[in-house]
Amino acid sequence: MRISVLLCSPRKNGNTKRLINEFLKHFEGSSVDIIDSYSVNVSGCRGCDACKDTGVCVFNDDMCEIIKKLKKADMIVLAFPLYFDAMPAPMKMIIDRMQPLYNLTYGAGKRPEINKKGIALITAGSKAVRDYSLDNTCKYFLNLLGASFEGAFVVDRTDIDEGSDKFLNAAKAAVERVLSNR
Ligand SMILES: Cc1cc2nc3c(=O)[nH]c(=O)nc-3n(C[C@H](O)[C@H](O)[C@H](O)COP(=O)(O)O)c2cc1C
Repeated sequence: MRISVLLCSPRKNGNTKRLINEFLKHFEGSSVDIIDSYSVNVSGCRGCDACKDTGVCVFNDDMCEIIKKLKKADMIVLAFPLYFDAMPAPMKMIIDRMQPLYNLTYGAGKRPEINKKGIALITAGSKAVRDYSLDNTCKYFLNLLGASFEGAFVVDRTDIDEGSDKFLNAAKAAVERVLSNR
């Protein structure tokens, strides 16, 4: 299986990386590609609407390559720490740049074909009471890449308690979900 992880934590060996590592332990033998949102060169969408007519973005940066990689994957994992109840800005910049794909599908009255699974792995410093709009943001993004949204699996209270069981348990629950046939 080809797994693409879109990672968005500035802390290279932080809590989010720890959660991904636990998750990926269950997929030994799979090819894993980790895209570090903090290392890529992606400009923010400027809403110029050029892609409405052309289907192509005016920016020629790393976004094209990112979309190619994510589309090739059999499973897409979004992994990020909660920042002010949302994903950190670099991931949101990438998500906003999906506007050409949005225009080519929903904008043209079509729906994307869903043929792979997608999931979000999130860490949060305090007790996470997530806003559902965050789930919708993940879902819209994943759907445009042909992936379902199997849910967000959260390890919270990382700033209070570093216990390892919660990382193992969240990873296990996420794995069970993506491997289930529902
Ligand atoms: C700018 C910033 C904003 C944050 N906002 C939240 C928040 O809204 N809710 C929360 O529970 N934790 C918040 N945190 C804590 C992180 O989500 C938490 O420490 C996370 O586990 C860090 O993951 P990392 O080690 O991969 O960076 C915030 C941390 C930072 C630096």
